[in-house]
Amino acid sequence: MKDGNPPFPKPELGEPYLLTPGPLTTSIEVKRAMLRDWGSWDEDFRALTADLRRRLLALLGDMADAYECIPMQGSGTFGVEAMLGTFLPRDGKILVLSNGAYGARAAETVRYLGRELTVIDKGDYLPPRGEEVSAAIAADPAITHVLAIHCETSSGILNPLAEIAAATAAAGRQLLIDSMSAFGAIDLQPDSIPFEAMVSSANKCIEGVPGFGFVLARRDALKASKGNAHSLSLDLHAQWTVMEKTGQWRYTPPTHVVAAFIEALRIHQEEGGVPARGARYTANRDILVAGMRDIGFETLLDKRWLSPIIVTFFSPADPAFEFARFYELMKRQGYIIYPGKLTVVDSFRIGCIGRMDAAVMQGVVAAAAAALAEMGVDNAAPPEDALAERRKLSG
Ligand SMILES: Cc1ncc(COP(=O)(O)O)c(C=O)c1O
Repeated sequence: MKDGNPPFPKPELGEPYLLTPGPLTTSIEVKRAMLRDWGSWDEDFRALTADLRRRLLALLGDMADAYECIPMQGSGTFGVEAMLGTFLPRDGKILVLSNGAYGARAAETVRYLGRELTVIDKGDYLPPRGEEVSAAIAADPAITHVLAIHCETSSGILNPLAEIAAATAAAGRQLLIDSMSAFGAIDLQPDSIPFEAMVSSANKCIEGVPGFGFVLARRDALKASKGNAHSLSLDLHAQWTVMEKTGQWRYTPPTHVVAAFIEALRIHQEEGGVPARGARYTANRDILVAGMRDIGFETLLDKRWLSPIIVTFFSPADPAFEFARFYELMKRQGYIIYPGKLTVVDSFRIGCIGRMDAAVMQGVVAAAAAALAEMGVDNAAPPEDALAERRKLSG
């Protein structure tokens, strides 16, 4: 939000705020954009698709001309699978940098594809580092590609993409990026972070509704990818070829979702683009984290790795705390939060993205305090062994 703007109105339809990593709270304008039906082959809809591709490419900055935008039907996972299947040659090998559920899912996807992989697994608390990428490639020259998760949404960790990209480029390998939950709020421009392809989806930081993902890929790599794909419907080269030729999607497009997304992109630009969106989310996170700490909660991550996307909090040790009840009490006050997705400790997550601002985040903290009081939780501190584990693993 630009300085001086009034706070966002409450969701106009009276529904609770979604403090989740997407689907998330969208504006009434985005919802309204879905009220018209579109013929998928019609010139008006083809113009929407062209506008969507042009606007997304523009977010890449000075090097946008070397890239192509290929939307793909389905949720983000479909887009990740399409990217991996299209850009990883059948005789290629990928180094998957994993520190949470989405890194693990990418590795599982590569196994499904039957392609070679090796994994660096950093657990839930720590980011993969540039020097680890350099060492892994030096030890295994068969590696052709590296897959990095930009924001690992399962913990909220913001991975150090610049040093990972630099290490990958220095070794002459290609970088694929899952920027599902970061693109649109955190800068990702190929002149500073060289990459072959990245993937994101409609219902994250651009604040659209779910229904498709999109891949931004270097044109030379896309041209060279012909014949790589394992799947008819997830072949990005084929989707691109048809879109270039006809302006249409290869198979039925999510027409209403595309129309909503154009509106979301317009609002994104009006707000001030990536820097302004990132600044709003950062302010949301700072208010949330400070407020939750004031009432006794602790974050899973060390401060320097906290993303402005979503924050994981340890569940309190107090036996009166029960997540299902906490969730219900939060919902009753108008806030839908998110369960944890960690392997080791009990936790829950609160998202900072979507059509929400400082006033909403203050409301979230007040609601959390009221929920604790209602449950009879006097102390929201996490179990001592969870903190000890964090200290041990954070080094
Ligand atoms: C980093 C990341 N990758 C992949 C996905 C999968 O996207 P979807 O749930 O839309 O399939 C998500 C979803 O939140 C994500 O955050």
